[in-house]
Amino acid sequence: MDDLKQKYLSAIADAGDEATLEDLRLQAVGKKGEVSLKMRELGKMTPEERQVAGPALNALKDEINAALAAKKSALADAALDERLRTEWLDVTLPGRNERRGSIHPISQVSEEIAAIFANLGFAVAEGPQIETDWYNFDSLNIPPHHPARQEFDTFYMNRAEGDDRPPHVLRTHTSPVQTRAMEKQGAPIRVIAPGRVYRSDYDQTHTPMFHQVEGLCIDKDVSMANLKWVLEEFFAAFFEIDGIKTRFRASHFPFTEPSAEVDIQCSWVDGQLKIGEGDDWMEVLGSGMVHPKVLEAAGVNPDEWQGFAFGMGIDRLAMLKYGIPDLRAFFDSDLRWLRHYGFASLDVPTLHGGLSR
Ligand code: PHE
Repeated sequence: MDDLKQKYLSAIADAGDEATLEDLRLQAVGKKGEVSLKMRELGKMTPEERQVAGPALNALKDEINAALAAKKSALADAALDERLRTEWLDVTLPGRNERRGSIHPISQVSEEIAAIFANLGFAVAEGPQIETDWYNFDSLNIPPHHPARQEFDTFYMNRAEGDDRPPHVLRTHTSPVQTRAMEKQGAPIRVIAPGRVYRSDYDQTHTPMFHQVEGLCIDKDVSMANLKWVLEEFFAAFFEIDGIKTRFRASHFPFTEPSAEVDIQCSWVDGQLKIGEGDDWMEVLGSGMVHPKVLEAAGVNPDEWQGFAFGMGIDRLAMLKYGIPDLRAFFDSDLRWLRHYGFASLDVPTLHGGLSR
């Protein structure tokens, strides 16, 4: 028995892999293994012999099984160590450059706009994209059944069955932020509100989701002349062209009186869009003097305060400035397009840095 113990314990200690261990297990304690065969011989022994040999054989079997189990887990640990060693990865290596991210033109242009208006004393205000119809329409002097509600191609949210309140809308313009900002801050106020807006419309220059920036300036004696100056100042800085040609057209919005739409001179040649030249005009904003009813709805006294507001299409401005012909490509998430039109992430727009140059 001592020989068997010696033989198997040292063989188990020397085993280099699990297959060898399994062989040893079969040879020693398998059905026809040496220890098992010895146990069968117990039957031929005298009761006295059996009393000594039985427990000793059982102890030997236990000892061999324990040695097998210990060796098996030692081999598994070694295998894991080996894997960890060979699959080791140096996470401190510098990243590869080829998948560099870039800033989307809309983000870049929004930053440029905020930088220019900050310089003119405008803070940034915000409002929700899912808006009540009161903020989106009523507060802006567009009561229910007003024809202007039709012009907006509004997306309406669903209400629960049996709920008769007017549905929420995806805001059709950033103008509701005028009301929200004045409610919060009162007058005087000078803010811009950039953000997403939604209309059910789709072609080369319209997408169902697009971006506007609202401007609002209310004080004691702000006039249409201030509006014109601010916009011209803005366009010159934004396009980096002094005396860029703009066209103010008389227009109508329920929330401004008088109202004007503003176009920028441009040309389309062979699908190329250029500003500051040519016979075409691209409409980029609506504007006017804030209607007294709008001031009133926002809790500002129209006998005391007055001012202008405008709403500009950010996407349109980006198309014009960077010569991007198709608006729809802005939202296709095509990496090649983004690499072509995107901006370096450290290219933070500033006036002294010439914004994007
Ligand atoms: N909200 C208008 C639009 O989306 C633009 C606008 C804003 C016009 C502010 C006048 C004043 O068309």
